Amino acid sequence: MRTQVAIIGAGPSGLLLSQLLHLNGIDTVVLERRTADYVLGRIRAGVLEQGMVELLREAGAGDRMDREALIHDGTDICFNGTRHRIDFKGLTGGKVVTVYGQTEVTRDLMEARAAMDGQLVYEAADVAIHELDTDRPRLRYRKDGAEHEVRCDYVVGCDGFHGISRRTIPDTVLRTYERVYPFGWMGLLSATPPVSEELIYVNHDRGFALCSMRSASRSRYYVQCPADDKVDDWSDDRFWAELIARLPPDAAETIVTGASLEKTIAPLRSFVAEPMRYQRLFLAGDSAHIVPPTGAKGLNLAASDIHYLSRALIDFYKSGSTEGIDTYSDTCLARVWKAERFSWWMTMLLHRFPEASDFDRKIQNAELEYLMSSEVAMASLAENYVGLPY
Ligand code: FAD
Ligand code: PHB
Repeated sequence: MRTQVAIIGAGPSGLLLSQLLHLNGIDTVVLERRTADYVLGRIRAGVLEQGMVELLREAGAGDRMDREALIHDGTDICFNGTRHRIDFKGLTGGKVVTVYGQTEVTRDLMEARAAMDGQLVYEAADVAIHELDTDRPRLRYRKDGAEHEVRCDYVVGCDGFHGISRRTIPDTVLRTYERVYPFGWMGLLSATPPVSEELIYVNHDRGFALCSMRSASRSRYYVQCPADDKVDDWSDDRFWAELIARLPPDAAETIVTGASLEKTIAPLRSFVAEPMRYQRLFLAGDSAHIVPPTGAKGLNLAASDIHYLSRALIDFYKSGSTEGIDTYSDTCLARVWKAERFSWWMTMLLHRFPEASDFDRKIQNAELEYLMSSEVAMASLAENYVGLPY
C-alpha cells in the first residue's frame, strides 16, 4: 500500500487528523490494533474546550455535538462542605466549555471517516515502523494471518501512552518527564439524571470526588481511591456510599443512584516526552503526553496537537514549506507544559495525599480559601479550564 501520511492509532487523535487531512486532499491510512467496538467501549473524557469544538466542526464531525452537547458556563468547587461557583463565562469574557463524551466524539469521527471511504485498518497486529531515516518510511503489520506493508512520506504516532511510536525514538534522543500520583480515580457511569446542572469538584477529608455527566439522563461520577484498588473492590453500593459521604449536604440529599453501566479505575500520571518529532515520525496526543484528568485536559491537548500537525502537513503538501513541520514539536510542547502545570495544580489542590502532613493540609485549605476570595485567582483557573488559545 502507498499513502502520504500513515497514522498509527484510531483514537480521537488519529481519526481527527485523518479526517482533516483527507478534507485537504491528503491521503492517509490509519492502522488500529483493536476493533472499532473496543475503541468505542472506552469511557473516558467528557469536557471539550472551544478549540476542540471548532476543530470537530472543521472536520465535518460537529453536527450531532452541536445538537446534543451541553454547554457549561461554570463549575462548582466544594471544600469544607461548602459549594463555591467558578463563573467561566463571566471571568473569561464569555468563554464556556462543551460537555460531550469522548465516546460520542469517536463515534462521530468514525462515521465521518466512513462517509468519505477513509482507509482504516482495525485489528492491525504488530505494527512496526521501518526506515524512518529515509524519505520513504514503511509500516509493517499483520492482519488475518498475512503480512502487510504501507509506504508513506510521514508517520504519525497517535497510538496512546502504551503504543509503539514513542518507543521507536532512540533513548539518546528522547527525554521523558514523569510524576505518578499515589492514588487513582474510580469512575462509574449510570443512567441517572446528573445531581447538578454543572460539574462539582470536591475536596474532602475522605478524598477527592467529581460529579460529571454525559447528558440530562446519564451521569459520570468519580471518587479518589488507592492506586492499587481493583474494580472488583468497588460494588455499586460501596461506590455510591463513598461518593455521598464526600458530597456537600444538598447534593448528598438529592443525588439519584442506580445500577452502574460501566466502572473503571484510572491511574493518575503526569508525563511528557520530548521531542514530539523525530525524523519522519510525529507524536500526537497521549503517545507524547499524559495529564491527570483533574483539569479535563487530556483529550483537549490531543486536539491542539492535531490542530498544529494538520496545518503543518497541509502547508507542506500545498506549498512545500517545512516550517510548520520543523516547529511542530516546540509549538506543541509550549502549550503542553502549560496544560501539564494546570492539571498538576488542580490535582494538588483537590486530592488527599496519603503522605500529606498537617501543614500540607493547612496550606491546601488556605489555597482553596484564597482561590474563592480572589477574582484574579478564579479568573486564572477559569482561563486555563476553558482552554488556553492555540
Ligand atoms: P487514545 O485514545 O489512547 O488512542 C490511541 C489508540 O491507539 C487506541 O485506539 C489504541 O488501541 C491504539 N493503539 C495503541 N497501540 C497501538 C499499536 N501498537 N498499533 C496500533 N494501534 C495502537 N481525559 C480527560 O480529559 N478526562 C478524563 O476523564 C479522562 N479519563 C481517562 C481515563 C482513562 C482510563 C484513560 C486511559 C485516559 C483518560 N483521559 C481522560 C485521557 C483522554 O481520554 C486521552 O487524552 C485521549 O484518549 C487521547 O486520545 P489519543 O487518540 O491521543 O489516544
Ligand atoms: C468526565 O466527565 O469524565 C470528566 C469531567 C471532568 C474531568 C474529568 C473527567 O476533570
